[in-house]
Amino acid sequence: MTTLPIVWAPDPILKTKCAHVTFIGEEEKQLMKDMLDTMYAAPGVGLAAPQVGITKRIIVVDCARTNEPAAPYQMVNPELIKSSMDELTNEEGCLSLPGHYADVSRPATARVKYIDENGCQQIIDTDGLLAVCIQHEIDHINGILFVDHLSSLKRNMILKKMVKAKKER
Ligand code: NI
Repeated sequence: MTTLPIVWAPDPILKTKCAHVTFIGEEEKQLMKDMLDTMYAAPGVGLAAPQVGITKRIIVVDCARTNEPAAPYQMVNPELIKSSMDELTNEEGCLSLPGHYADVSRPATARVKYIDENGCQQIIDTDGLLAVCIQHEIDHINGILFVDHLSSLKRNMILKKMVKAKKER
């Protein structure tokens, strides 16, 4: 098991629009395994490659409840191809902003296209926590954090606290 160090905001890596992955080789497969290990250890329900310093369009998520079997998704080049007009408001957090939480509204359902760890294209329809989580992670690979959905006042307050937390890390 390998856990990778998690990049904390503010950091230019977390503001980067990540590159499309054109080939899924051993390096990418290992990265996704390590990202899952890192996410479970944190613990968290999602992690995007830029959070471990890699600016590639790769995310992992597992929104299974504690009494349910693990349900990991490893997604390369994930893309929202359809989302609902109705929104769901959920309290979000982020492993790159530890200890900070805020309500964010997003489309309640989302159709997601991605390439899985075996190189196969998949399309899934998601709702609930899984839809929220995948949209949060896709934001990451576009250089967007959940605090970017908040007012600048709230965002700056959290980021200021993060600057201090990073110094004390
Ligand atoms: Ni996050």
